[in-house]
Amino acid sequence: MWSTARLTPMLSSAARKIALQTRKPALRLAPACIHCFSTNAKKIEAGIIDFEDDIRAGEIPKWMRHEEDSNISPPKSINNDEVISGGLGPRTSVLMELTDQVGALHDVLRLFWKYDINLTRIESRPVKSTGAIWGLPRFDFYVDFDGKVGDPNVDKLLKCLKPMTRRVLILDEKRVHWFPRHISELDLIANRTLDAGKDLESDHPGFNDKVYRSRRAKLTELAQKHRWDQPIPRIEYTEQETATWATVWDKMDNLWDKYACAEYKRTMGLMKQFAGYSRTNIPQQQDVSEFLRSNTNFTMRPVAGLLSSRDFLNGLAFRVFFSTQYIRHHSMPLYTPEPDICHELLGHAPMFADKDFADFSQEIGLASLGASDDDVMKLAHCYWHSVEFGLCEENGQRKAYGAGLLSSFGELEYACGTPNDGNATPEIKPWDPNVAAHQEFPITTYQPVYFKAESLQDAKVKMRRFCEDLPRPFFAEFNAQTSTVYIDRPVKRSIGIIYHQSNRMLPHFIYKLKR
Ligand SMILES: [Fe+2]
Repeated sequence: MWSTARLTPMLSSAARKIALQTRKPALRLAPACIHCFSTNAKKIEAGIIDFEDDIRAGEIPKWMRHEEDSNISPPKSINNDEVISGGLGPRTSVLMELTDQVGALHDVLRLFWKYDINLTRIESRPVKSTGAIWGLPRFDFYVDFDGKVGDPNVDKLLKCLKPMTRRVLILDEKRVHWFPRHISELDLIANRTLDAGKDLESDHPGFNDKVYRSRRAKLTELAQKHRWDQPIPRIEYTEQETATWATVWDKMDNLWDKYACAEYKRTMGLMKQFAGYSRTNIPQQQDVSEFLRSNTNFTMRPVAGLLSSRDFLNGLAFRVFFSTQYIRHHSMPLYTPEPDICHELLGHAPMFADKDFADFSQEIGLASLGASDDDVMKLAHCYWHSVEFGLCEENGQRKAYGAGLLSSFGELEYACGTPNDGNATPEIKPWDPNVAAHQEFPITTYQPVYFKAESLQDAKVKMRRFCEDLPRPFFAEFNAQTSTVYIDRPVKRSIGIIYHQSNRMLPHFIYKLKR
């Protein structure tokens, strides 16, 4: 268990002081030894330590800086052996063992200052296995810093650390599944579709319709050519396609009033005003994306077909939702065997205009970056039982926030309405990601089990807690200004560079619109 309580009050005092003076964020140090750092903090307040002049000049001492490179260039291609260290240069991780003596940590940290090495992360935990020495507890410190073994100053630092610590180990970079680090790298995964949108199954309503198949092929080709920094292609939808849209709209309109959550109804009202939503117009993905960006910084991007769970969820980390642009076959307007523009724009898009829901979705995405196959599967299950089929409570009534429900008239009534005599009723469980992560689900029938959150805020808080407890290889943070994900430790993203075991499709098919 990580030590969390001992240093925090004193550290926050010192860090807050620096932050106030410099108007920069306080350094986020994980807790360490209170005795060592309290001495340091007192010296800062007394103005007697060596970096006093730096503080007076309004600068954080270099060894305490946590900098972000705002000029990062978009990666051009996948490099299998590249060590990722948060957008900065080479970074090294070491494990040091110290005893809890006054000044011990301070003396170690001064070496980083002495050799002009930027410390980027420090975490501590008590050493439990071997106990205390002379009554003093011992701590392991995990330290990341800029530079690599072989740099003259790094070598000098490590040489000096040896006699000052009980042990120093240089940690290898952890190998993780490949993940996108900059939004431009979504281009590299967007076309790794498992099922191209033009390859229809023989039981697809449009399988024998050459005109429909040709239209699908054209739209999927446009999606394949799309790049992250280009406007989304505008589609001139035909009268027949618009009529299909209108049929779905008419069927859903009354049901949204009855069963959609308040957030959906609010954002749908806005989208009718500002994003081109109406029964006679299929909104353009570009307009919807711009509307979402201005509200919650979410965006949509065209995709040619179905992605793996890992790739799809990775996009959410960047607040990007992969979305199809084609529409179901006109012969069966209330049925679709795969996500289409009705499902994406009527089910998903309005919810992404709500901040809590947008944050909730991004939590799942950030946790999926570099995650193990098992954890990706757990996250995909959570996604299914929330983003696709989630319920919440309003004034004692069940309301839908999941897109699979909000675009399916039959299942929306089944999940939220009063059952008719003799009809089966679904089981409703309280929203708990620990349970949802293991709850199996069918993709060709209505769900037998739904999860109901107390509110979207409740759903988000519980999801965040679940993600924090996953044994993640690193913690990731999305910087909206640079469209880059920063991670808190060096890793090598070298597993499953093209294909990976978790290639099971995120099964957000909607088979159930026709009842
Ligand atoms: Fe979906």
